[in-house]
Amino acid sequence: MLIGAGAIAELAGLVEGQVVIVQDLALPPLALPGAAVVKVAAGEDIKSWDGLRQIVDSLEAHRLGRDGTVVALGGGTIGDAAGFAASIWQRGVALINVPTTLLAMVDSAIGGKTGINSSRAKNAIGSFWQPRAVLCDLDWLDTLPEAEKQSGYAEIVKYTMTLDPGMADVGDFAEVVERSVRAKAEIVAADERESGLREVLNYGHTAGHAIEALSGYTLAHGRAVAAGMRVAARISQRVLGCPAAVVEQQDRLLAAHGLPGPLPDLAVNRVLDALPGDKKARAGRPRWVLLRDAGRPEPGHEVPEEIVREAVAEILSGS
Ligand SMILES: NC(=O)c1ccc[n+]([C@@H]2O[C@H](COP(=O)([O-])OP(=O)(O)OC[C@H]3O[C@@H](n4cnc5c(N)ncnc54)[C@H](O)[C@@H]3O)[C@@H](O)[C@H]2O)c1
Repeated sequence: MLIGAGAIAELAGLVEGQVVIVQDLALPPLALPGAAVVKVAAGEDIKSWDGLRQIVDSLEAHRLGRDGTVVALGGGTIGDAAGFAASIWQRGVALINVPTTLLAMVDSAIGGKTGINSSRAKNAIGSFWQPRAVLCDLDWLDTLPEAEKQSGYAEIVKYTMTLDPGMADVGDFAEVVERSVRAKAEIVAADERESGLREVLNYGHTAGHAIEALSGYTLAHGRAVAAGMRVAARISQRVLGCPAAVVEQQDRLLAAHGLPGPLPDLAVNRVLDALPGDKKARAGRPRWVLLRDAGRPEPGHEVPEEIVREAVAEILSGS
């Protein structure tokens, strides 16, 4: 894992054999002599069977062998789809992630989850395929639109509240990114297949996924997760006695980055109905990651519907 401005310079020394760069067509080309380049459009459309076929067909057209390398250059949508293609092409070829959005740097490029969406659910089809290397070059963020940066910041607030509360006082952006990457990498190393500990990374995602899906995916993932964290914090206060000061601190950290911003006009019942579809649900009942305190997340909580209803209503009303 290499983090910092200029980290991309290390790429040439990391790749072996033949290389195919699958990249967001909106980004400038990488200077990597001899590499084939496949340009695809970013967005959820690439995370589909058609998008996957497009990438796999390109790997075949370039005759990428088993000893070759796929470089995924782009945000989370490119990384998820290209990573999945790398995991199934020739039963798996090496993958190097070059994340170019803040969200991809601190979250999706780390941890080995790859995949595409089914017709009904996000990320329903996929694999665990660990990248050989992740190059987080902060220079990419110079061109990233502010709204995309804000969306990525939601995950940083998530790490702050669940794993590294001291990050709230860090002003240096590069250090914040590095600590976030480290926080996620440590959890993934301890529980690669999400059989327990890794579930804490889903803090904010139970209500967040429901709100995101009900928006028809027009609401950015990070904004939906931010709204989901606000819901989860209020439930944490009621169920686990999480201090009010922690809930307020989380609200402040989110607001400082424009999060969650305006939410879609959704009926509370629709959000409640969408919850059991969440991947963390067991036997149709959502299980929540809650906070006992800052830095003390607890996965696996079943919560009485009335408490969930109140928290969702409060957050949807914007109060
Ligand atoms: N695999 C995981 O563990 C994991 C974790 C979190 C999220 N995700 C997935 O990540 C995806 C969202 O990722 P995302 O927000 O990066 O989306 P994205 O890939 O669609 O990128 C967002 C936008 O930023 C643009 N962009 C990318 N890099 C840029 C740059 N340097 N300068 C200017 N514009 C740039 C893209 O063209 C796109 O328009 C979702 O599909 C989500 O499910 C996966």
